[in-house]
Amino acid sequence: MAQDTPETGAKIYETGKVTEGVWPPPSPDTALMTKAIQIKKLVKQYKKVTAVNDISLEVYEGEIFGFLGPNGAGKTTTIKTLLGLIFPTAGEVLVLGKPAGNIEVKEKISYLPESPYFYEHMTASEVVGFYGSLFGLSGAAKNKRVDELLELVGLQGTGKKTLRSFSKGMLQRVGIAQSLINDPKLLFFDEPTSGLDPVAHRDIRDLILHLKAEGRTIFLSSHQLSDVELVCDRVSILHGGKIRRLGHVDELIAGGHVEVIAEHVKATDTQMAALKDMTSKVETLGETLSITTHASTDDKNKVLDWVRATGGNVLSMTQTRRTLEDLFYEVVHQGEMETGTAFAVPATSESMEVKP
Ligand SMILES: Nc1ncnc2c1ncn2[C@@H]1O[C@H](COP(=O)(O)OP(=O)(O)OP(=O)(O)O)[C@@H](O)[C@H]1O
Ligand SMILES: [Mg+2]
Repeated sequence: MAQDTPETGAKIYETGKVTEGVWPPPSPDTALMTKAIQIKKLVKQYKKVTAVNDISLEVYEGEIFGFLGPNGAGKTTTIKTLLGLIFPTAGEVLVLGKPAGNIEVKEKISYLPESPYFYEHMTASEVVGFYGSLFGLSGAAKNKRVDELLELVGLQGTGKKTLRSFSKGMLQRVGIAQSLINDPKLLFFDEPTSGLDPVAHRDIRDLILHLKAEGRTIFLSSHQLSDVELVCDRVSILHGGKIRRLGHVDELIAGGHVEVIAEHVKATDTQMAALKDMTSKVETLGETLSITTHASTDDKNKVLDWVRATGGNVLSMTQTRRTLEDLFYEVVHQGEMETGTAFAVPATSESMEVKP
């Protein structure tokens, strides 16, 4: 459990390993962290469509950065700009400290596209070997690297099987293996787990964590929010070409509200009206109340005072927590309301019932 004072020698559990260390870990000083990606006021206009509309963000070396947003938000456009495949209409994009598209940078990065296409008549080792040749590998060194990568992604032993007979999960693994052929420092994964079954999903997720543990930086675009929540250090949520949220996953999904359960409350109508005015949500079940309010000390104290003034007892006080999916929905819904493109879909419990 997290504590206020760092505790030296505490056990830190990370991806199944137990190490001695300081808990909670000190907040990273971002000013000292090396920037793998710097996007400054990026705009990308396609004729009438502004696919990316003035976005700025930084990704630090060694982190997994989740790049989220609904269909058409501008994720792939941004990634293609970072890869130097398309050019910004305005703004600046630096990758590993150099302008996107720089040839030295291209040698140190790799890209797994949304729908990778491979020649179906080739075997996994032929495909990965082909990409190895493009990076100047040959002979025994190439074969060794190909074998290592196929083993890493779980495709060892596929031998003479051609990609025509591969499942979607297997093809995705081929894609990841080819993306690692140049031992990249920075990887761009565009939807690496889309359409995979839960087992393949988990394997790829673990593989992404493994790549981070090797010190690589991963820029991950995904609609699989549960994966993102589990693997990403920070995320941004894009909508309509603009960044709507940016930050550490834990901070973004921290509820910001508390739920107080109080019993034996005997409140007058005036007292009830006063409570509803000062809180976000009140539900009553006889003399038991569920009261949701902002998590500030002041707001919590107001509720405690109110409960005591009505002769009640506080049974529990719990900080509410959203999922990344709740937050995503909220952001997209807000964006759609602003742009007038909202569907008539009910909001999540938090966004609908709790006043901002
Ligand atoms: N080559 C292009 N020409 C014109 N418009 C484009 C082009 N590429 C993308 N767009 C438009 O730019 C916007 C952003 O598209 P983009 O592919 O970046 O979205 P995305 O976030 O990757 O979406 P998805 O989740 O569906 O992959 C969309 O409105 C799209 O139609
Ligand atoms: Mg896309």
